[in-house]
Amino acid sequence: MAISTRMALLLTVCCFVPVPSFASSGGGGFLQCLSASLPRELVLSQDSPSFGSVLLSSIRNPKFSTPATVRPLCIVTPTNASHVQAAVLCGVRHGVRVRVRSGGHDYEGLSYRSERPEAFAVVDLARLRAVRIDSAAATAWVDSGATVGELYYAVAKAAPGLAFPAGVCASIGVGGHLSGGGIGMMMRKYGLSSDNVIDATIVDARGRILDKDSMGDDLFWAIRGGGGGSFGIVLSWKVRLVPVPPTVTFFNIQKTVDQGAVKAVTRWQTVAPALPEDLSIRVIVQPRQALFQSLYLGNCSALLRTMSSEFPELGMMRADCREMTWLQSTVYINSGDLKTPLESLLNRTTSLSTFTKNKSDYVKEAITEDSWEEIFPWFNRTSAGIIILEPHGGRVGSIADADTPYPHRSGVLYNIQYVAFWTRSGATDATNWISGLYDFMEPLVSKDPRGAYVNYRDLDIGENTVVGGVTSYDSGKVWGEKYFGGNFERLAITKGEVDAGDYFRNEQSVPPLVSRK
Ligand SMILES: Cc1cc2nc3c(=O)[nH]c(=O)nc-3n(C[C@H](O)[C@H](O)[C@H](O)COP(=O)(O)OP(=O)(O)OC[C@H]3O[C@@H](n4cnc5c(N)ncnc54)[C@H](O)[C@@H]3O)c2cc1C
Ligand SMILES: *[C@@H]1O[C@H](CO)[C@@H](O)[C@H](O)[C@H]1NC(C)=O
Ligand SMILES: *[C@@H]1O[C@H](CO)[C@@H](O)[C@H](O)[C@H]1NC(C)=O
Ligand SMILES: *[C@@H]1O[C@H](CO)[C@@H](O)[C@H](O)[C@H]1NC(C)=O
Ligand SMILES: *[C@@H]1O[C@H](CO)[C@@H](O)[C@H](O)[C@H]1NC(C)=O
Ligand SMILES: *[C@@H]1O[C@H](CO)[C@@H](O)[C@H](O)[C@H]1NC(C)=O
Repeated sequence: MAISTRMALLLTVCCFVPVPSFASSGGGGFLQCLSASLPRELVLSQDSPSFGSVLLSSIRNPKFSTPATVRPLCIVTPTNASHVQAAVLCGVRHGVRVRVRSGGHDYEGLSYRSERPEAFAVVDLARLRAVRIDSAAATAWVDSGATVGELYYAVAKAAPGLAFPAGVCASIGVGGHLSGGGIGMMMRKYGLSSDNVIDATIVDARGRILDKDSMGDDLFWAIRGGGGGSFGIVLSWKVRLVPVPPTVTFFNIQKTVDQGAVKAVTRWQTVAPALPEDLSIRVIVQPRQALFQSLYLGNCSALLRTMSSEFPELGMMRADCREMTWLQSTVYINSGDLKTPLESLLNRTTSLSTFTKNKSDYVKEAITEDSWEEIFPWFNRTSAGIIILEPHGGRVGSIADADTPYPHRSGVLYNIQYVAFWTRSGATDATNWISGLYDFMEPLVSKDPRGAYVNYRDLDIGENTVVGGVTSYDSGKVWGEKYFGGNFERLAITKGEVDAGDYFRNEQSVPPLVSRK
């Protein structure tokens, strides 16, 4: 009760004062405000004994955990919605921005670090991760701090026969993933994760909690694919669950260059996006070989029939089939081992062993066999890079480009993700390799603009600049049209409607567009 009175007071104050200047704030008033509004143990300042371990808890990439990394002033670890409201209200009032972290998988670490020196706080949602399932209605409310693995596990246990379409790595956070789309093995049948969001609750820049009805159509449109970190803090998502059969079939088929990998990948480009929606085949191009990895929503016999009529060139055989439940398939895709326990989906511990840099593209016209002959040799200049090709088409391709912020729909054959790996010393070689390959690919991929996927965040494609206290629209447009195409302007107008003062801001947040509406 005390909390809500204080909250009402803060709300009255902050709504009528202009946003204070940010960068120079030392944070003293902010920390005092937090300690007055939140239980002490939920606020970890830099000198708190657990600050380091909590900060590290969901960092995926060791390059964002160095002495040079710009760290937050403090980490707030809310256990209920009022704590999130309080953090935002204290931040607005005292001129300290918050960055929200759900699973911490952002490729540029923007949920917990800043590129430039800046006083900011992290609101870490890891303790807000309930999943409430309504099996009769085939829906669930999932809190942002849950991982997709926790969601998969909860759904399959509570409602056998139901599932949720999302990414292939179990430790991805729901908050960032659903904010930016969600590419996965069932998107050809059911669309992106964000295409299956039917309601949400969000804390806005005025500290209010809004839902689908109170937030308005533009904001509800924007948070389903417009990227995290721009519009507010989404607390919880209501999602549509989707039916899956009791048995699904998985295969991994490896083809070396000598076994015809180049021809098979060339053919795959037009076959995969046109397959029946129950079948998804993605490709991982590795040194001198291609791995075809597939999930089929049905049994082995039916899959064999489909493969022999649609993609005989792959030479799939009965021995390639691995029949299992859908839940097992979400484990198997990463472990390749049917004995890996389902409970590994609940493991939130991440390993910090490999440095990586990723980039992305979309392909709308199949790349010729001659070009693939030139692409494959890029993978023997280094043993440390791969590309992952994710087929589109089906449901993900049939939603209109403007219906959601994700614009890579009609006519898209597949997404490319470039991944460079290195250990402590190989950074220059690996980053030169990935940027060289990215330049080489330019004539072969989507253009005007060259597309990119916001959940594979890449600061090389553009970073915001701030003019007159707010992010400039023109600087945002550079990277924004790559992620969002023609939807970028509507995202910026929406940002102008809900956060004209640009409180929720980072190196690649959507800028507010107010004047040009
Ligand atoms: C190993 C690995 C595998 C991946 N596999 C896939 C895949 O198969 N398919 C796919 O589509 N993507 C995949 N991704 C990318 C992933 O979808 C994105 O990185 C996603 O944004 C991560 O969400 P998060 O909550 O873990 O990240 P965070 O780092 O917590 O957040 C990402 C961004 O969203 C913001 N944000 C976080 N929570 C909220 C919230 N509650 N409200 C508003 N904004 C928020 C953050 O501030 C940040 O800007 C993968 C990433 C990794 C590291
Ligand atoms: C949130 O937690 C606080 C204690 O920190 C409690 O006073 C408050 O009632 C809780 N709010 C809700 C909505 O549960
Ligand atoms: C790049 O992608 C790979 C494969 O999905 C992932 O393991 C890695 O963590 C990503 N890189 C970053 C910087 O997160
Ligand atoms: C496989 O699935 C088909 C339907 O797609 C069904 O007719 C057939 O009986 C199933 N076979 C087995 C062995 O379960
Ligand atoms: C959880 O994952 C981490 C990192 O991958 C691993 O080291 C650890 O052994 C796993 N824990 C369990 C209980 O499986
Ligand atoms: C890559 O390997 C293939 C076969 O192993 C070889 O023919 C080719 O010259 C190599 N390319 C480069 C760039 O090293």
